Amino acid sequence: MIIAIDGPAASGKSTVARAVARRLGFRYLDTGAMYRAVAAEAIRLGRPLEDATAMTGLAETIRVSFAYDSGDPVPYGVFVGSRDVTREIRTPAVDAAVSLVARIPGVRRAMVPLQREFAGGTDTVVEGRDIGSVVFPDAAVKVFLTASPEERARRRVGDRAAAGHEAAVAAVATDIARRDTIDSTREASPLVAAAGARHIDTTGASVDEVVDRIEALVREAVA
Ligand code: CDP
Repeated sequence: MIIAIDGPAASGKSTVARAVARRLGFRYLDTGAMYRAVAAEAIRLGRPLEDATAMTGLAETIRVSFAYDSGDPVPYGVFVGSRDVTREIRTPAVDAAVSLVARIPGVRRAMVPLQREFAGGTDTVVEGRDIGSVVFPDAAVKVFLTASPEERARRRVGDRAAAGHEAAVAAVATDIARRDTIDSTREASPLVAAAGARHIDTTGASVDEVVDRIEALVREAVA
């Protein structure tokens, strides 16, 4: 079974998707981490982010992998080849670059088959922007997570502070709004709530509450 979790930046997708995977014993795939890895590599190599040919070539050759502790479906690390990019892909520079790279159709064409292959018929929680609409349109459970812009900005400031990057709420709110605009208005696989997706507003909700609701959707789907 595939559980597709989509939603705008910092809507709580990662936290919720990880908790669902751990609770249900499903695999977990963070597709945003894959686009972030391409953007991080483009920055490191000094390649122009808006060059579709260069970005597509990079996406076609990059080897993104996840590293796991035994027994945990949630990876502790993200690698490009043998390079640990776990921290690098969450920096403000990558936040600012990733949507420019992810809107390039060739980049998406390179990433989507890898995402389908990762799930490969096994029970998997997959999070992103186009999972219920494009990558797994037949997912048994589709969720579209939202939260108020203020709450999303506050959460992201908290995430970044925990990783040692101090940021002002206003600046983060601007970055999130900019990214949501690019993600929602691009031609290739824009961020949309998929047909049949259940909307869950996570503003003021605890992670457990949201996970309970998704678990109930899973029970409904198998009933
Ligand atoms: O964690 P956050 O919500 O900030 O973003 P993310 O899930 O790590 O995704 C980072 C960026 O990758 C998004 O803003 C999109 O531009 C892109 N993305 C995408 O285009 N399609 C996906 N399935 C996942 C992410």
